[in-house]
Amino acid sequence: MKLAINGGDPVRNKSMPVWPVWGDEEIENLTRVVKSGKWGIGGKETAAFEQKFADYHHAKYAIAMNSGTTALRLALTAADVGDGSEVIVPAYTFIATASAAIEAGAVPIFVDIDADTYNIDVKQIEAAITSNTAAIMPVHFAGRPADMDAILAIAKKRHLKVIEDAAQAWGSAWKNQPVGAIGDAGCFSFQSSKNINCGEGGIVLTNDDMIAKMVRSHYNCGRSEDGLWYEHFYFGGNYRITEFQSAVLLAQFERYEELKKIRNENSMVLTKLLSEIEGIELLGTTPEVTSRSCHIFIFKYIKEHFADKPKTAFIEAMRKEGIPTSPGYSLPLYKQPVFLNCAFGPRGRRMDWPVDYSACHCPETERACFEQAIWFTQNVLLGSEEDMHDIARAIQKIQEHAGEIPI
Ligand SMILES: Cc1ncc(COP(=O)(O)O)c(C=O)c1O
Repeated sequence: MKLAINGGDPVRNKSMPVWPVWGDEEIENLTRVVKSGKWGIGGKETAAFEQKFADYHHAKYAIAMNSGTTALRLALTAADVGDGSEVIVPAYTFIATASAAIEAGAVPIFVDIDADTYNIDVKQIEAAITSNTAAIMPVHFAGRPADMDAILAIAKKRHLKVIEDAAQAWGSAWKNQPVGAIGDAGCFSFQSSKNINCGEGGIVLTNDDMIAKMVRSHYNCGRSEDGLWYEHFYFGGNYRITEFQSAVLLAQFERYEELKKIRNENSMVLTKLLSEIEGIELLGTTPEVTSRSCHIFIFKYIKEHFADKPKTAFIEAMRKEGIPTSPGYSLPLYKQPVFLNCAFGPRGRRMDWPVDYSACHCPETERACFEQAIWFTQNVLLGSEEDMHDIARAIQKIQEHAGEIPI
């Protein structure tokens, strides 16, 4: 049997399920908004979605806005983090985790990830804390909750705020407590690739009255809920969400649990199948993780079992076999040009900065980016059980012919 990359027949010719999944509900909700004539702030759709999302995560407040990045930036500001203080973030995450800290006037400090969970390595957090540290921002990467017990314990001991980046973790839970509502505030994304999607959108959850009040003000030009429309009490911007976005979110939210169940079931099938292949390693599980959104399915590629062929060559071979496969984050955040150059000023000008990011080194993050981490995006997990078997078959086929993978 020849590899598809070398002209052989691919393992599959069918495509994986497309995303977004949508139906009449989205259309009906959007039509309702158009006809209402109420398209912006103050409409019923946003209020209804905020309430549902808060209830689902057992949070006191939910404030919806235009993106997950904005949610992180405003949550930090509202939690009184900024003024050049340091914020601890994992090095393996989407840029927004760190760029939101910069936007909030803080300095991101990168900590490596744990090899078994790909979440921030809680054993390394304390060493990164200085007298200038104000917050820890754990990321519940791929929808897999970070170790909130350890993080909250450190935060309590060192008087730090905890802002959860739950952008990928709708309904994921740590000891039955939904993430995003465990720390001082939690932030979610509804951008196109996300499991609950309205094109672009985000939300802050909090149980803290002051944080909720300040987020509501900052996202609405510094207004106060009981002030006049043209009365601005604080610094802020227009980060509001529209009624159209919230109407789509309401429909997406209704089918979320059903799709989450399918993703979880397929994730279990895939875990079992891939655990039987030598050279494929899976991330660990702990009993504290009681629910997962399954935003990304990750496995580690160990090239020694694939004739030493690099991750990029394996991914190309998988794609040719008909399996959409992603290399995930291509660089640790501290190696992104914007951080190496401290290009945080206007037009990317270098700013005087207290950290030299070129001196950072997080070995596990580098291994994940450059050698081992491989992702399947959430739409793949919406397929059939047979689709999961195709994935395993493709990996096995490539392994059997690894010596033939072109590089
Ligand atoms: C971990 C993480 N943080 C933050 C964000 C930012 O969310 P958004 O794209 O909605 O601004 C994303 C999503 O892209 C993400 O995956």
